[in-house]
Amino acid sequence: MSEKVAVFDTTLRDGEQAAGTRLGSREKLIIARQLAQLNVDVIEAGYPASSPEDFEAVQLIGRQIQGPSICALSRAVASDIEACGKALAQAKRPRIHTGIGASDIHIAGKFQDERYGKTLADKKGKILEMAVDAVKLARQFADDVEFYAEDAGRADPDYLFTMIAAAIDAGATVVNIPDTTGYTVPEQYGSLIRGIRENVAGIERAVISVHCHDDLGMAVANTLYGVINGARQVECTINGLGERAGNAALEEIVMALRTRVDYFGVDTGVDARELYRTSRLVSDLLGMKVPPNKAVIGANAFSHSSGIHVDGFLKQRETYEIMRPEDVGMMESRVVLTARTGRHGLGDRLTKLGYPLSEQELDQAYRRFLTVADKKQEVFDEDLLAILYDEIHPAPATFELQYLHIYSGTSAIPTATVRLRVGDATEEGAAIGDGPVDAVCRAIAHVTHTSAELKRYEIRGVTSGTEAMGEVSVQLEQGGRKVVGRGSSTDIIEASAKAYIDGLNKLASLAAALPRAALAE
Ligand code: KIV
Ligand code: ZN
Repeated sequence: MSEKVAVFDTTLRDGEQAAGTRLGSREKLIIARQLAQLNVDVIEAGYPASSPEDFEAVQLIGRQIQGPSICALSRAVASDIEACGKALAQAKRPRIHTGIGASDIHIAGKFQDERYGKTLADKKGKILEMAVDAVKLARQFADDVEFYAEDAGRADPDYLFTMIAAAIDAGATVVNIPDTTGYTVPEQYGSLIRGIRENVAGIERAVISVHCHDDLGMAVANTLYGVINGARQVECTINGLGERAGNAALEEIVMALRTRVDYFGVDTGVDARELYRTSRLVSDLLGMKVPPNKAVIGANAFSHSSGIHVDGFLKQRETYEIMRPEDVGMMESRVVLTARTGRHGLGDRLTKLGYPLSEQELDQAYRRFLTVADKKQEVFDEDLLAILYDEIHPAPATFELQYLHIYSGTSAIPTATVRLRVGDATEEGAAIGDGPVDAVCRAIAHVTHTSAELKRYEIRGVTSGTEAMGEVSVQLEQGGRKVVGRGSSTDIIEASAKAYIDGLNKLASLAAALPRAALAE
């Protein structure tokens, strides 16, 4: 039996910052459900003090998700920690993640005000006190408290060791050593972790956690060096999403440890067959595409094309494959449903995919399934998930598409006419555009009177073939808020209209949520 390394997923906190997009609490809940299905040990659900939406998301996930610990982030500030405590009040296994800058660069740069001390030495003393107070306060709300020493990768090791020892004395159960700026290289980061194990008093009372960023493309390598040197928790995100160049990719760490267990001698409890599905879900909801050559879950990760490789692979798979696509859940989706699959069969398949639906949700999904099956003949799991996100979890609908007509062609000016339900009324409008998609978006913008700006438009085929479902994601921005809207259909113009309307509905529900009193239970 290999020793276990805990997986701390921060897709919903560090990862979410990547797209410049805030996920709504229902979207976060969908992802958290899938992370629980993936069997991660900890879900960092958000930063409650940052916004009422994040507070609500942490609260919702803490109430509804069983299995993993649910974690919330705070600075070493009393009001942040109290917000975490409130948001996690109903979680079965709450964890508060609190911390402060540890490097001279962070301390001098972020704590310039003289109330933190005049000299750098004074400030370092004050920061230590703040770290200890933060952990002690967090322990009043949760037995499980993780302390982060921000920018540990560039910190003076002696000061870092003192800070970590003080945090453990104050009650930290996990100590996180972030390479916040992705500055370190693997051997250096590995020896930092070894140094902590060898020099920090009381370290045997806490788990060492590694948190690496990918600015120099070394986040996963640094994480693995941390594990080799004694870290027993890895912090990572699905698809490696995160600030700037991102965080260490969960799927790469998990499969590296599993495939090379002979070398690392440790493993995680992650159900790797859920990796592909999780990656797709996160990519869809955040509107961030996965590059085809991405390790482990990219579309080409298991494709062989050169003659020599294909020949060798067909003779014996192991010649060119160190993992099998089914190990990461890539081939499992070949179950095909057709229009003859009944409502029960659909419900059964969705439950197997990890989405048990209520009777009402199943009715709704079945109606849409029949329309898709009628057009496409064969419906794959990927199509089902697209239907599910479209139909079952849409943002509350201020706007709803009722009718769409397009006039287009090589010698015609693309013209779109749309009819929308707008609140309780029905409104119609038309517009011309540079192409049919542009025309339909303009027509919708005209009817809804929106000032939202279309920042990004992406389209992809969910499955293959000219009859495949097309999935469109758009990023809209209004008043500094960014959202991702999604839509799918066998007709890409309709998918585009749905995505645009989904985005507008999300903006409308965010605007409606704004006046709500912050952080009140
Ligand atoms: O990168 C970092 O330092 C972080 C901390 C807030 C844990 O994300
Ligand atoms: Zn980070």
